[in-house]
Amino acid sequence: MANFHALIPAAGSGLRAGEATPKQYRPLNGKPMLWHALQPFRKHSRILRIHVVLGPVDEYFENFDWSEFDPRLQVLRCGGDSRARSVLNGLQAIAAECSPDDRILVHDAARPCLTVADIDRLIAEVGDGEAGGLLAEPVSDTLKRADAHARVLSTEPREQLWRAQTPQMFRHGLLLRALTRSAGLEGITDEASAVEQLGLQPLLVKSSAANLKVTYPEDFRLAEILLRTKSEQS
Ligand code: CTP
Ligand code: MG
Repeated sequence: MANFHALIPAAGSGLRAGEATPKQYRPLNGKPMLWHALQPFRKHSRILRIHVVLGPVDEYFENFDWSEFDPRLQVLRCGGDSRARSVLNGLQAIAAECSPDDRILVHDAARPCLTVADIDRLIAEVGDGEAGGLLAEPVSDTLKRADAHARVLSTEPREQLWRAQTPQMFRHGLLLRALTRSAGLEGITDEASAVEQLGLQPLLVKSSAANLKVTYPEDFRLAEILLRTKSEQS
């Protein structure tokens, strides 16, 4: 039977979040964002191991206590110069302990509000689907295309448009092949886009805006509010 692994790229520097400390280590309600991103995987009984990809010279990780994630947590100091490269390096680093059929759930350290129920839905809906799948949110806003001066050029149809989130779940063998083939990894901002280039159609599993990605300074406060609501509900 296939095993399930979480792979968490956490080797970015968080430039858009605007502070010296990389955003994955900045506190949300007293715990680093990475801690929150790992929690639902720790709580999920199907996840065999949680692999975190850090930058080779990361000096922050050791400053926190991660013992509650033992023995499932594995730290890989093999991050690369892009998110896709960090994921590819992580997949290669765990290749010896995975079978090609094992499912890898790639999840951004920058999405701290994921729930166990989200992981359940992804695993259940993707099932044995060969093309894998990802959490995503149907676009609800009206979309405008702009010129270089922020003047509206046109209103774009939003039907059948989705915002891709993480986790994104694929077989280890397939994802390794897809990312290895995406030479240079230019323009590969998620796993699904590499898999799409093999001619496959990953499944979109409906999620909500509550699984937000913390990117800009104003996102931290919102994430704290969402995390408080989540802890009141559980
Ligand atoms: N990431 C990574 N390796 C990189 C770049 C990003 O592992 N070379 C990780 C980040 O740590 C984050 C996830 O990929 O968990 C999503 O990336 P993003 O939100 O863009 O984070 P950063 O690249 O750190 O932020 P920014 O783009 O603002 O610099
Ligand atoms: Mg980035």
